Amino acid sequence: MKEILSFTKTNLENLEVVKSENYHITLNNGKVLIDTMSGLWCSPLGYSCQPLKDAMYQQSLINPYQSNFLGHHNEITEIYSSRLCDLANMHNVYFTNSGSSAVETAIKIACHISKNTTGVASKHSYHGSTILSAAASDQTINSWSNIADPLIVNKFSNSSELEAALKNDVAFAILEPIIAAGGVYSHSGEVFEVLKDYQSKGLIVIWDETVTGFGKLGTWFAKDYFQFEPDIMVLAKGISNGYFPLGACLIKEHVAERIKFFNHGFTFSGHPIGSAVGLEVINQLSSMNLDHSRFKRTITHNKVIEHRVQGCMGAIEFSSKSKAFKFVKSMREQGYMIESASENLNSIVYCLPYIFTDLDFENFIKTSESIINDNL
Ligand SMILES: Cc1ncc(COP(=O)(O)O)c(C=O)c1O
Repeated sequence: MKEILSFTKTNLENLEVVKSENYHITLNNGKVLIDTMSGLWCSPLGYSCQPLKDAMYQQSLINPYQSNFLGHHNEITEIYSSRLCDLANMHNVYFTNSGSSAVETAIKIACHISKNTTGVASKHSYHGSTILSAAASDQTINSWSNIADPLIVNKFSNSSELEAALKNDVAFAILEPIIAAGGVYSHSGEVFEVLKDYQSKGLIVIWDETVTGFGKLGTWFAKDYFQFEPDIMVLAKGISNGYFPLGACLIKEHVAERIKFFNHGFTFSGHPIGSAVGLEVINQLSSMNLDHSRFKRTITHNKVIEHRVQGCMGAIEFSSKSKAFKFVKSMREQGYMIESASENLNSIVYCLPYIFTDLDFENFIKTSESIINDNL
């Protein structure tokens, strides 16, 4: 176990998972945890979705590897791109192997066509761990050193700060429609209005739907939920239900028309197995009810500062980091996998699988309430 390097500092025990089924993970000591994180916000269909596994296996028999890096195409990836672009109302897609690499692609495109390296992003946001995606993230957690900053990214926390930042000449604004890992925060309606206004004057708006895509808010994408058409959109995580490392950067036609040649790509761009599982995720979600209103219930307690819920995602905020940490630890002891938020460490976060039953949800809330009452 010591050979695997980890950059994350946590006081919690590192778990060794030996098996996962439905939304349960089994540890090497035999303990079974209910995964209320859906992996890392990426497996809302759970770990036993047989049609996804079949699609990957069948594709591996026909054509297990090709790449779009040098411009080549393959049949399944072409079918998948067309289906995904239609679904998302976008013109082109570039496939990557993660959310970070898709955000990196989106920022490079925006800077390339604007000939500018200044951007605007929101406080608490997390856009990834590569250099450009980290620069666009909240620096309280995602800062790095010893490398000259390639981008200037001004952070906003409300519509007036956003408007002030946009008065400068910027290449792009990047936004998580709902801030997920940072603590499940929503933006005010005015933020979207300001973005729309500047978008109509030429601002490139990138929506990072790495988390919110594929049904987390009850619609296919958060852009449908908020009725906002971004110029560039990033998808990852739920795109393959976490079964294959896949990300996508989708662009509108007017963006595509402005791209001149620049060298960019990945060995695993347009991977046939990723495309096969991505296509099957679309098929599976098409036949599901994505209404998550049954997960709306919030906990009211004098030890809870705020309980924020958006679709299947939630965050419970406490008065201190130590209370949040104690909550996560006690929940794990009681059989629930749950995590701390990355940008606001007083909060814990969850992302319930779509296949979670009403009874599971009831038990999850009851266990949370009793821990808050008795242990914190
Ligand atoms: C909104 C958002 N964007 C980008 C990323 C980075 O994705 P990945 O870890 O697949 O590189 C994440 C990861 O949590 C995310 O939440």
